[in-house]
Amino acid sequence: MKLPETTTPDPHEAPGIRWGVLGPGGIAHTFADAVAVGTASTVVAVGSRSLDRAQTFAAEFGIDRAHGSYEALVADEGVDAIYVASPHSEHHAHALLAIGAGKPVLVEKAFARNAAEAREVFAAANERGLLAAEAMWSRHLPHYDVVRQVAESGLIGEVTTVFADHGQYLYPNGPARLSQPELAGGALLDLGVYPVSFADHVLGPATSVHAAGTLTDLGVDATTSIIVTNAAGAHGVLSCTMAAATPCTAIVSGTAGRLELSGTFYGAASVRLFDREHHLVDERPGGLVDGVRGFSYEAADFARCLVAGRHESATMPWAATLRVMETMDEVRRQMGLRYPGE
Ligand SMILES: NC(=O)c1ccc[n+]([C@@H]2O[C@H](COP(=O)([O-])OP(=O)(O)OC[C@H]3O[C@@H](n4cnc5c(N)ncnc54)[C@H](OP(=O)(O)O)[C@@H]3O)[C@@H](O)[C@H]2O)c1
Repeated sequence: MKLPETTTPDPHEAPGIRWGVLGPGGIAHTFADAVAVGTASTVVAVGSRSLDRAQTFAAEFGIDRAHGSYEALVADEGVDAIYVASPHSEHHAHALLAIGAGKPVLVEKAFARNAAEAREVFAAANERGLLAAEAMWSRHLPHYDVVRQVAESGLIGEVTTVFADHGQYLYPNGPARLSQPELAGGALLDLGVYPVSFADHVLGPATSVHAAGTLTDLGVDATTSIIVTNAAGAHGVLSCTMAAATPCTAIVSGTAGRLELSGTFYGAASVRLFDREHHLVDERPGGLVDGVRGFSYEAADFARCLVAGRHESATMPWAATLRVMETMDEVRRQMGLRYPGE
């Protein structure tokens, strides 16, 4: 038994495009850095609800143009694509704003508050013939490609169980965005989306979903656990919490062996392959090659798709984003969790 080599291409080899960043908050910094360090693309413009904040971000990253409104950003003719980095509650409106202005969009996870909003964004992109994709950066990482190959090749036999957890201590003393129902805060859309998306990556469509959640005083989920089942009867046992730091590991077990992903499964995790007698038989170390960041891979994939004239990414296709949103809708239905304005 031996782990396959990744087929993920080098982000530096993707063509360069001109990005506009919408919403210069925490994650926009990570994205701008990853584009600058690990791709041939450039962030050429930033849009904020405040000109001052746009200018501060532009100065930090040496960005040419700072716009004091999102409308001005999406109208910028020197921008090829918009990266939407606003809170979950705003993704739908901001993605539609960009598409309405004829701009392709890469939208942060969770792609929208619910599957209905996601469907509307993809329908609008389809109508305009524009590229749209969820910025689920992990799907583009080299070790996710290794996991996919292992699951597809039958190296660990028939997959029976996927375990994945994502817990970070972000509540009650973390960013306000996480606790606010009106911004679609809570653990599920922010953290749970990773285990749900990982299970979808390995198991494909869920045919059943069972969930339990603990809600905060303001009514978003603090801790959520989920069991998904696929058509073959394999299970995904998934959990997330914003109230504790958990190992953030993932395990894919099959009838002939298992994979263990550790060091945050959704980041630059190591992958260890065990046979069914629990012997370690192969290992792929964690970490990224020099000169790239985790987000460089998703930005490069988007640039490749854009230049090739594609409307969706083969690595993060619309159907997968919709399946993830549908699973999370069902989880919330079972927990009695709705966001204001839904
Ligand atoms: N991929 C990852 O690893 C990762 C990690 C963390 C977060 N995220 C995702 O990135 C998105 C943003 O998260 P973040 O942590 O960067 O949030 P953040 O620091 O609060 O930044 C969000 C930005 O959105 C803009 N915004 C637009 N409408 C807003 C509103 N109604 N309320 C507050 N801000 C608003 C704000 O910029 P202006 O007001 O200046 O325009 C703000 O700076 C979320 O979808 C989150 O899940 C992804």
